[in-house]
Order: sequence, then C-alpha cells, then structure tokens
Amino acid sequence: MWWSKLTGRLERASALDPVTDTVERGVHAVLPRGPAKDALHGVWLGHAVHPLLVTVPIGLWTGALLLDLTGDPGRRRAAQTLVGAGVLAVAPTAATGLADWSELGLFRRPKRVGLVHALANGLTAGLYAASWLARRRGDQARGTGLALVGAGTMAVGGYLGGHLSYSEGVGVNRNADVSPEPADWTDVAAEADVQAPGLHRVEVGGEPVLLNLHAGRWRAIHARCSHYGAPLDTGTVDGDCVICPWHGSAFSLEHGGVERGPATSPQLSYDVRVTGGRVQLRVRR
Ligand code: FES
Repeated sequence: MWWSKLTGRLERASALDPVTDTVERGVHAVLPRGPAKDALHGVWLGHAVHPLLVTVPIGLWTGALLLDLTGDPGRRRAAQTLVGAGVLAVAPTAATGLADWSELGLFRRPKRVGLVHALANGLTAGLYAASWLARRRGDQARGTGLALVGAGTMAVGGYLGGHLSYSEGVGVNRNADVSPEPADWTDVAAEADVQAPGLHRVEVGGEPVLLNLHAGRWRAIHARCSHYGAPLDTGTVDGDCVICPWHGSAFSLEHGGVERGPATSPQLSYDVRVTGGRVQLRVRR
C-alpha cells in the first residue's frame, strides 16, 4: 500500500530529528514531569487519556460534516455549533498527546510520526477554526469548504495516530498479554542468590520478574515496564518504588501500581515466600 510506504519513509526521516528535539525540549519546559503531566498521561485512569479525548473533536466535526452535506439550511446553526465545540476540545486533546509524545525518549521513529501527526491535527484545528469564523460571518460556502479540507487533514492525522498506537505501540500496555501465572507457589531461585540489596531478575513461566528484599520483606513485580518495555531490573530503587531506566516511571514494589508516569498501566505483582532456602512466587490475586 502506498500509504504504508509513505509512513515507513516518515519513520526513517532523520531530517526531522532536530525539529522533534526542539519541540520536545519546549514541551518539557512548559510541562515538566509531575502530577499535572501524570494527569494528562492518564495515571489516574489506568490507561492513556489521549485516545479517549481524540474522539471528541473527531465526532463533533464529523457530525458537522454530515449536517453540511445534507444541505438543509435549517441545520447550519447546528453545524456551526458542532464545529465550534470541536475547536474548543482541541486544547485538552493536544495537551494529552504532547505529554505522551514528549516521553518517548530515544525512540526516534514514533517521535517523527508523532510530530507530523501533531502538525496535521494543528492544521485541522486551524481549518475548523477558520470554518467557524466564516460561518459566523454568514459565509456558509466558505465555512463548508474549509471544513471539507479540514476533514481531509483530520483523516491524515487520524491515520498517523492509529499508526502510532497499533504499529508503534505508543500508549498501549506492553504487558497486556502477560498471563496472570503462576497461581500456585513456584520455585524461582536460591535465597542466597537473590538476597543481596538491590534488584534481581528471575523468571517464572517464561516471564521476567523483579525481586527485591528490603528490611526483611520480599517484593516482586513483573520486570518489563508497561510503558515501553524497559527491563525494570536495570532501574533504581527509590523508597518503595522502582524507577524505570528509560523514561522514569515509578512503580510500587509492594503492589506494582503506577506512582509516577508516563506509564499508566500497573505491573503484575507477586507473593513471595522462602521455603528450605528456595524463593517461591505466585501471582498476587
Ligand atoms: S519504558 Fe518508558 S517509563 Fe518504562
């Protein structure tokens, strides 16, 4: 498909990197890591907020397009209202997207695609804002024309947004297919091998698990970061949390919950016991 080839070229377009780096620095300056950014990521929700919000302007503008195309003058006022409401929904939608995009770190390909995704959506917002102004002045033909062009750029932005999620895996839970196993106690290591301070990686049922002994208490969570798949056993311990080495998400070592984004999905956590000098795990229900 020609559009897949075009997207592949966009992913490899290293000429965009200076621009992505500059925009990323700007986003970090305006929106540093902290509670506000975590709220935009969707830590409070348990998954990304951005895919949820994008449906608002898309739905409103698609409704306006339908009313425009039916050609009934009685519906013009309703179409104008939908166009204006869609424009108002752009700011929070863009803020959530920029927050997620700015935490992709060294992953160049999704950052390049994300930049063009944002530019297409920015252009779409501008076209719909101009459409609303034209309608307000009574220039229905111009308002409809601008909205039609906006629908085209919206399709481009939407396609690239879908590509980011479904092909590049941005905003998805990297552990979605991890089965909650084992249900029964399973031997994973000799106690002597994993009792030193710090983080230890063991495997259970083919899955990597992070083990930590702190103040006589064992903690164990899945070792692949739900944000983008980093090995958490190479991270650092901060209090009761492990800090992801790639983008700084903090997960509770006690229960796997997200204490700080950009990750939004919790890690699987495990019960731990020591029997006869052997460490055993089972998934915490
Ligand atoms: S991989 Fe991004 S925060 Fe862990």
